[in-house]
Amino acid sequence: MSTAPAFDDPAGTWNRRFGEAGFLFGTEPNTWLREHAAVWQPGQRVLCVADGEGRNSVWLAQQGLHVDAFDVADVGLAKARQLAAERGVQVNFTHADCDAYAWPRATLDGVAAIFIQFADPALRTRIFKRIVAGLKPGGHLVLQGYTPRQLDYRTGGPPVLSHLYTEQLLRAELAELDIVELRDYEADVQEGRGHAGRSALIGLVARKP
Ligand SMILES: C[S@@+](CC[C@H](N)C(=O)[O-])C[C@H]1O[C@@H](n2cnc3c(N)ncnc32)[C@H](O)[C@@H]1O
Repeated sequence: MSTAPAFDDPAGTWNRRFGEAGFLFGTEPNTWLREHAAVWQPGQRVLCVADGEGRNSVWLAQQGLHVDAFDVADVGLAKARQLAAERGVQVNFTHADCDAYAWPRATLDGVAAIFIQFADPALRTRIFKRIVAGLKPGGHLVLQGYTPRQLDYRTGGPPVLSHLYTEQLLRAELAELDIVELRDYEADVQEGRGHAGRSALIGLVARKP
C-alpha cells in the first residue's frame, strides 16, 4: 500500500492516510503483539515505535503497562490520544520522526515494533540499534513485519523488497539480542482496511541479555 512519496514525505503521506474516516489499521492490537505481550508484566515500561493511530499502545496500556509511543504523523497521534481517552488509559505520546525522537537508553522493559517497514536499510539499522540500546538487560522486543513473499500478496506494507524482513536479516541486524521466537508464516490478516487479506508475515520476540 505504501508508495515512494511515503518515504520522501512520511508525515504528509501518513497524515493524509490517517485523515480519512475510521482507523486505517483498526482499533484492535496487532495479533502477534497480543499473543506475545505476556513477556511483559503490569507496571513495566514499553515503547511503541511508530505507533500510528494508537491501537497497540492503547491496548498495552490497558494491560497495565506504562507505555511511551511516538509517530511522525500528528493526525494519527490525535486519533491515538482520542482512543486512549475513550478507553480511560494513559499513554505518553510524542510527535517525532524516528531520527529525532529522544530514545531512552537502557531503561525499557520492552519495545513493540509493529509494521515499521517504512524504514530503508540504513534507517532500519539506526532504528534497530536504538531499540537494542533502549532495552534494559532482560527487556524484550516484540516485532512484526512482512517478508518478501508479501510482494505477491500486496495486502499491506511497502512494495519494496529492501524494506521487507527475512529471518536471516533479523538474526543479523539484532545479533545483540537472544532470539526467543522467530517465525516466518502466512495468515489471513484483518487489521482495518490497511492490512487486509492473505499475508506473508514474520514475527519476532527477542530478549536483551
Ligand atoms: C504501517 S503504519 C503502522 C502503525 C502502527 N505501528 C500499527 O501497527 O498500527 C507505519 C507508521 O509509521 C509511521 N512513520 C513513517 N515514517 C516514520 C518516521 N520516519 N518516523 C516515525 N514514524 C514514521 C507512520 O506515520 C505510520 O504510523
